[in-house]
Amino acid sequence: MFFSDTHAPYHHKDTIKFLKKVKEQFEPDRVIHGGDLLDVYSISQYPKDPSHPDTWTQEIKGARKFVKELSQVFPDLTILQSNHDDRVYRKAVLYGIPRDTILPYSELIGAPSTWKWVPSLNLTVDSDRSNWHFVHTITGGSLRSAKDKATNVCIGHLHTSFGAHSFHNGKKLVWGCDSGCLISDEGSPYKYNKISVGRPIRGCVMIINGTPNMVRM
Ligand SMILES: [Fe+2]
Repeated sequence: MFFSDTHAPYHHKDTIKFLKKVKEQFEPDRVIHGGDLLDVYSISQYPKDPSHPDTWTQEIKGARKFVKELSQVFPDLTILQSNHDDRVYRKAVLYGIPRDTILPYSELIGAPSTWKWVPSLNLTVDSDRSNWHFVHTITGGSLRSAKDKATNVCIGHLHTSFGAHSFHNGKKLVWGCDSGCLISDEGSPYKYNKISVGRPIRGCVMIINGTPNMVRM
């Protein structure tokens, strides 16, 4: 099971309910979060909405609540490194603060010790021995990378792209898969959703016997 871009506390209000239902229905043996677990809006280095009501204190409180709820559904979770979850550290780098002087991210957000962060993940599906590469984002997109690497590729990051495409070169079929997101239309970071032509598509991916199944929220 792969889902991504929750951007807590600016996640969609039905996120936990949806993920819990999918988990109960499909009983996945491995669960991966594709990154952008939290948004980290209020301390990002980018210009912010001057009317944004959340301070960092409020944002992290909401984020911790989400992490607690998510960890009750998924006590074991592998999370991919991503641009938003890295915002605290990128800001530290900007001001010359070494990473090891800062509270570990898992501690900051109240994550259980069973959650693991990795830059990317390569897995083999037991049933069909197909190989999968999971990463938050990749140059050229998922299908192009799947062709180049001759392996299946599943990514997050693209909030408005939700689907799987395959390519067969005569010997092997590969999948390129975009997992959509689970963000809200409310709150400063994403209120622009409503005026964008491409709207966020919410859902997750279930890889069953090596084939991606898109589950829309
Ligand atoms: Fe994202």
